[in-house]
Amino acid sequence: MRWLKIPLFFLLISVFASACSTPTPAPTPTPTLDPAVQRGLDLFGGKGRCATCHSLTPDFVIVGPSLAGIATRAETRIPGWSARDYIEDSILSPNNYRVEGFDAAQMDVTIGKQLTVDELNDLLAYLLTLK
Ligand code: HEC
Repeated sequence: MRWLKIPLFFLLISVFASACSTPTPAPTPTPTLDPAVQRGLDLFGGKGRCATCHSLTPDFVIVGPSLAGIATRAETRIPGWSARDYIEDSILSPNNYRVEGFDAAQMDVTIGKQLTVDELNDLLAYLLTLK
């Protein structure tokens, strides 16, 4: 039976070698957000303090209206205004338009002033994804 050992040896080697060279499947890429949107999301919960008053769960009121779907709703608020214009104005001049059932004075008017132009743009990029 000695003759059997040699091919068996090579068989084992080749099985072992092929097992080692089996390419590991490429990890599925995790979807990455646009960098501006990601920064806006961070500002929403961080420096902007928006999340202390606005939930992203439909109809769930913390202090202000839920911002779920705001990108779609914003277009309908002021005739002729784009969603971007309306959301920007809501942040910079919260008293310009009062959402029914809410007190405009509750939104902190100083928040917009504390954001840089870049931060405001990032925040808008994020909020405009909430369709
Ligand atoms: C102190 C609580 C408070 C904070 C903080 C706050 N908001 Fe508001 N926000 C409100 C209230 C109350 C209203 C509704 C009254 C009004 O129309 O101004 C509102 C309204 C809005 C609206 C209009 C919503 C609609 O349905 O038309 C937008 C957009 C908005 N806020 C965005 C923001 C963003 C972005 C931030 C963070 C930079 C923020 N808010 C921070 C309380 C707050």
